[in-house]
Amino acid sequence: MALTEGMDATGTGSGADDGALADIARHHGRMLERASALAEAILAAVEAGDPPLAHEEKDALVSWCEDELIPHFQAEEGSLYAGARATGEGRLLVEGLLLDHEAMAGHVEELRAAEGLRAAALAAAIARAFALHRAKEDALLYPLIAGSQELSLAEASRGLETLVGP
Ligand SMILES: [Fe+2]
Ligand SMILES: [Fe+2]
Repeated sequence: MALTEGMDATGTGSGADDGALADIARHHGRMLERASALAEAILAAVEAGDPPLAHEEKDALVSWCEDELIPHFQAEEGSLYAGARATGEGRLLVEGLLLDHEAMAGHVEELRAAEGLRAAALAAAIARAFALHRAKEDALLYPLIAGSQELSLAEASRGLETLVGP
């Protein structure tokens, strides 16, 4: 079955779903910028030979993951992932995306106890894993939901700041 089956003449779903698609992609972009900047700050402090600063920057990334990244995963794993998982085209895609969430959450747990170079490496892994993951969601998952006749991206994401931003 083609990924685009069920899409309307615009190639996606309703206008509201198109708006939600853009909002989610924009929010993903802001999240990636923040994760990358925080990871880069840890590496810069390590390279500068400043362990207290590297520790402070590591704490900042852990806090961001607790406040933004993990709640974002939890919000997605509600009706959005469930809706897509119930479709023939979405089932395996969602299974794969859930494995990404699990892997990134594992990196965050490891990061809590890590310092120095190890913390910088884990931080880079989190930021790069998120870059690949959001690319799959923006290119595959959310267009699938927006193009579906049965699912509504706008309804499933409405009011969820952690998905669409403020
Ligand atoms: Fe996700
Ligand atoms: Fe996401």
